[in-house]
Formats: sequence, structure tokens, C-alpha cells
Amino acid sequence: MRIKIRCDIMKVKTKDGTKDMRAVWMEDEKVCMIDQRFLPRELRFFTANDHYEIRDAIKKMMIRGAPSIGVTAAYGMAQAAINGVNINEASKVIKSARPTAYDLFYAVDHMVNNMNKDPVSMAEKYADSVVDKCKAIGEHGTSLISNDTKVLTHCNAGALATVDHGTALAPIRAAHDAGRNVFVFVDETRPRLQGMRLTAWELENEGISHAIIVDNAAGHFIQRGEVDMVIVGTDRIAANGDIANKIGTYEKAVVAKENGVPFYVAAPVTTFDPTTPTGMDIPIEERDHLEVLDLEGSRIHPEGSSAMNPAFDVTPAHYITGFITEKGVYSPSELENMF
Ligand code: MRU
Repeated sequence: MRIKIRCDIMKVKTKDGTKDMRAVWMEDEKVCMIDQRFLPRELRFFTANDHYEIRDAIKKMMIRGAPSIGVTAAYGMAQAAINGVNINEASKVIKSARPTAYDLFYAVDHMVNNMNKDPVSMAEKYADSVVDKCKAIGEHGTSLISNDTKVLTHCNAGALATVDHGTALAPIRAAHDAGRNVFVFVDETRPRLQGMRLTAWELENEGISHAIIVDNAAGHFIQRGEVDMVIVGTDRIAANGDIANKIGTYEKAVVAKENGVPFYVAAPVTTFDPTTPTGMDIPIEERDHLEVLDLEGSRIHPEGSSAMNPAFDVTPAHYITGFITEKGVYSPSELENMF
């Protein structure tokens, strides 16, 4: 049974009460977003005035998560067009922001290939289509979540990452809206802590039961039979069904399979990249090593120690039970035909 869910769904507590809000939007030809770096302590906003500020907002992770990055890029392209910037130049600058999320490249190419006299409406249409897809992911995915299900998720694939609803969080929100009891194990997600800071914030605002666990504890809870299913998002799905997602996802998939726990990947079709043959061909972003070495600006490592900081890893298709998409739930072998 498909459950009808609310349209603008992300609840944000502000000093003027609880508001429904999107992660990114366009206002007076400017691109506005929740600056996710300050959550959950502070609700701050950022306004990008040109395509360089769009690139920097994505690079610095004021906005993050594949579909939200794509929509921000689409708005940035619209803004550049209005400002009379050469469209190919704007495309180059915005695409240079981050390498892994396919939605970034998809959204920019979509804007370049369809550019018309009303770029803002075009970008709004793109944003609405992403929100509609995520809503449909929730409607399809909720059929997998019965009453009293315990779900483990990694990173943040909620409304903040997708403009609204979420991908991994959309079925959870929909099941909660339908009155089912759902509990979420939230991996803290070192080093940027998107799970602890963002996923827990979204779940708390929605009143969904959850507990934050350190990344290293996921295997423990899966092994003890406390996790019924794992749902994660993805930044890119390769042609063979391998996926790239936040660093640490691969381990969760292996442990889930070892223990017979289903492992689902939730994503809109815009994340599928038919031009990348396998997961090993997906470019993996290496981020600033200080993200690993420092904690909130304080040095906690021995002087002289170095770090490595890949932001994503690859989960091979054979670990994936199913893809929850806006068109339905598909096994990896059905994926190619579906797209
Ligand atoms: O580095 P981030 O925070 O942009 O990484 C985000 C993720 O890994 C998400 O799981 C992915 O983008 C899917 S978002 C629906």
C-alpha cells in the first residue's frame, strides 16, 4: 500500500516556532540555504550571490548530500544565467566543487542542455522534481518497514541532503507518519559527524526514536540481532550497481550480509551514472586532513602524525539487497533495465 505523505516535510525549530523548510531555495534571484556546518547548535543561513559562492558553499559543505548539491548547482546555474555569466564558464566553476556526487554533474548538464529564457523556473522545476522523487522513495520504501522495525543508517541522507524528505530517511519518515513504531541507529559518521549532527537533528525534530552510536559500534548491534535493516543513501550508482557513499558504508554492508540483515540503498534515478562502469571507476574525494586530525579546531593528534581522509567508499552491488527508488524497489540485477 502506498502511503500519501506530507509535501514540505522537514520540520525546523526556530525561535518563532516550528517551520516547514527546505534545505536550499531561491529568493529574489539569490540562492539561500541552511548552513549545515553550524547544526545542531545554531540555525544559520547562507546566501550565495554568484557561481563562485555556489562552488564554495558546496566545497565547504555548507550544503551537502548528493541531491541537495545537485539542486544548489541548478540554482547556481540559473543565477549565473541571470547575471549574464557565460554558461560554460559557470558550469566549469560549479562542477569543480566536489568530485563524487553524480547529481552535481547531472544537474549542471541538465541546466546547460535545457537553458531557456526563464532559468529560475527551470531550476525550480528541477528542485521540485527532486523533492517529488524523494517523496516517492518514501512511499515505496515504507512498505519495507513494519511496526517495531529497527533501522541503521550512516551519514545523513535526510531532508538536509536532498532539499526535502530525504532518501534513506524518507521511508522512515513515511513509516513514522503512518503511525508505525520505528527506531533508528544513527552512526555518528566520523570525521564530519553528519549522522550525529544532522540525521539526529532531523529525527529529533520529527519525534522519531533514535540513538547515536559511534561508527565502530554498528557491527556490534548488527551481530546481536538488534538491527532489522540498514538503509543508506548514495552519491553515485555505477552502471554495474556498485555504489559510492560516505566512508564507512562498505563495512556496514559487509557486516549486514555476514549477519543476514538486508542492506538497502535509497536514491533517485539522477544518482545513477551509466557512464561509469563500476564502483572502482567512481572518483573518491580526498578531503582536508585536518578534518581527521583536529576536533572542533583543537589539535588532538601527536605533532608529526599525518592522516588520510577519503570522504567516500565503494560498496559492491552483491552486498545490496535492493535499491529504493522513486519508481519502486529493485534488486541490483534489475537496475540497468529499470533505468
Ligand atoms: O560528504 P557528504 O555529507 O556530502 O556525504 C553525503 C552522503 O554520503 C550521503 O549519504 C549521500 O550524498 C546521499 S544523500 C541523500
